[in-house]
Amino acid sequence: MAALLSKNNKAGQAACLPRHIAIIMDGNGRWATKRGLPRTAGHKAGAEAFRRIATYCKNLGVQYLTVYAFSTENWKRSADEVGAIMVLLKKYLLEAIDTMEKDQIRLKFFGDMTPISPEIRALAHETDEISDHLPEQDFQANICLNYGGRDEILRAVRTFAAECAAGEKKPEDLDETIFSSYLDSRGIPDPELIIRPSGEQRLSNFLLWQCAYSEFYYTDTLWPDFDEAELDRAIVAYQSRDRRFGGVKK
Ligand code: FPP
Repeated sequence: MAALLSKNNKAGQAACLPRHIAIIMDGNGRWATKRGLPRTAGHKAGAEAFRRIATYCKNLGVQYLTVYAFSTENWKRSADEVGAIMVLLKKYLLEAIDTMEKDQIRLKFFGDMTPISPEIRALAHETDEISDHLPEQDFQANICLNYGGRDEILRAVRTFAAECAAGEKKPEDLDETIFSSYLDSRGIPDPELIIRPSGEQRLSNFLLWQCAYSEFYYTDTLWPDFDEAELDRAIVAYQSRDRRFGGVKK
C-alpha cells in the first residue's frame, strides 16, 4: 500500500507520513439510521472504528492520533445518546487500562473534564498515569472529550491572565510557543492531517489553534465504515499536497 511504502521516506519531505493525524469521527448517527438502528448503535460501531484506526496508525508509525469524541456542544443531544457515548468511553477506558502497557499505547484526554462523571474522570486519571510511565516515543491517542477549540483557547487565556495578575508572568512575554504550552495539546506537534468523514466539510470547533497549517481530507464514507484502506487514501492525498507554510515553492 502506498501509505505503508511512504513510511520509509525521509522526515521533512513533503511525501512523508504525517506524525499527527486528527479525525472528526462523524456520521455515526446516519450510519445507524440507514440500517434502521438506534443512533447509539452507530456510536458503538464508531468506537470499533476508532479501535481499528488507532491500531493501524500505530502499526504504520504515525505517532499521534487525536479524535473528536464529544464536543462542548454535544450536551444538546438526548440524555440517552449522551449516556450511551459515556458508556462506550468507560468501556474503552477499562479495556485500555488492561492493555495499554502491553500494546505500548499512551492515552490522553483533551477538553474540560469538570462536567464528566467522577467515574470516567477517575479512569481517565488512571490511563493518564499509565501513559506517563510509558516511553514518550510510544504511539499516543488523544481523545477530545467535552472539547471545543474556543473553550480550549479561553481556558489557556484565563490561566495565563491569572498568572499575569499574580505577577508570575508578563503579557509581553507571550508568544506562539508559550501560548501553545497552555493548551490541552501542549508538547504535541500540530496535526499535519485532519480528516472528516461523512461528507461534511467544516471544522466544528475542532483544534482551532492547532489547525493553522493542517491539510484537510474529506470523504463521504461514514465514520463506522472508515477502514484502513480509507486511511491509506487520506495519507496518499496528504502526500500529494504542496505544503508551503506561507512561503513560496523553492
Ligand atoms: C459524531 O457523529 C459522533 C459523535 C458525536 C460521538 C463519537 C463517539 C464515539 C465514536 C464513541 C466513543 C469514542 C471512543 C473513543 C471509544 P454523529 O452522531 O453526529 O453522526 P450524524 O452526523 O450522522 O448524526
